[in-house]
Amino acid sequence: MEGLGVFDLSGRVACVTGAASGIGEAAAETLAAAGAAVVLGDIDGDGADRTRDRIVDGGGRAVSRVTDTTQSDQVSALLAAATDEFGRLDVMANVAGVGSYGDVVDVTEAELDRVLAINFKGVFFGCQAAMRVMGPQGSGSIINVSATAINTPVGGLSVYAATKAAVAMLTQSLAVEAGPIGVRVNTIAPGFTLTNFVGGHLRDAEGQVDPAEMDSYLKLMRDRSPLGEVCDASDQANLIWFLASDASRYVTGQILRANAGQSITW
Ligand SMILES: NC(=O)c1ccc[n+]([C@@H]2O[C@H](COP(=O)([O-])OP(=O)(O)OC[C@H]3O[C@@H](n4cnc5c(N)ncnc54)[C@H](O)[C@@H]3O)[C@@H](O)[C@H]2O)c1
Repeated sequence: MEGLGVFDLSGRVACVTGAASGIGEAAAETLAAAGAAVVLGDIDGDGADRTRDRIVDGGGRAVSRVTDTTQSDQVSALLAAATDEFGRLDVMANVAGVGSYGDVVDVTEAELDRVLAINFKGVFFGCQAAMRVMGPQGSGSIINVSATAINTPVGGLSVYAATKAAVAMLTQSLAVEAGPIGVRVNTIAPGFTLTNFVGGHLRDAEGQVDPAEMDSYLKLMRDRSPLGEVCDASDQANLIWFLASDASRYVTGQILRANAGQSITW
């Protein structure tokens, strides 16, 4: 794309999981707008198709596949779509993830397994499958999604925070393995970001949130930010764009934080 310089992704191919909603959706649209062909995976196939359609309608190149990232064969199939459709894979953004709320004494084994499978194994499978393409290619950028929850212990978030800490350490360990073959591996660690994800612990059995409770939660989050703000999905998508591009060519093994400063005061 003319004028984007080192941020130009023309000719690159990017795969994004969690592309039906929130940060993954915004990342897919941002990478496509920067010139990348994008391959979109989500367990919500209709949602991923909607993101694909918006990108294609806007003149971009995109395909979508229903993908449950907890299933390694489905993740491999998603990446095969990248090489089949577009001939290569330059960027793998492992964005899909879920929240989990509850004190340690109350967490069921089923919940523990569910969250580990989505938030850690899904990212691991994405890294593994990407390395199998990028290794022989000798280049690529893998971008994972951790969370500000790794910075400060908060009661009721132990399972979520532990899976996100695991993502951060996986990222750094893989960066050591992948560097010598030309592959960069980084993670973003979003702070509070306005997507469907937020306020999960405030939802009732029907998934509804009392607007007054949400407002007071948002105020609490803004008060914990030196900027007095919370992020939106584009703030995270722009970091993913940076990490996908040559602007970050010597950035690897890093944890990048867009969180309106929450992690320095919280
Ligand atoms: N929003 C925040 O405040 C925040 C803060 C820190 C980290 N994060 C992380 O950012 C990532 C994206 O979250 P978001 O805010 O965009 O939430 P979101 O709920 O808007 O989007 C998450 C997407 O992941 C998909 N998904 C869930 N399980 C899946 C699976 N097994 N296979 C494939 N897709 C699956 C969902 O269908 C959804 O489209 C998550 O990893 C989340 O933990 C979010």
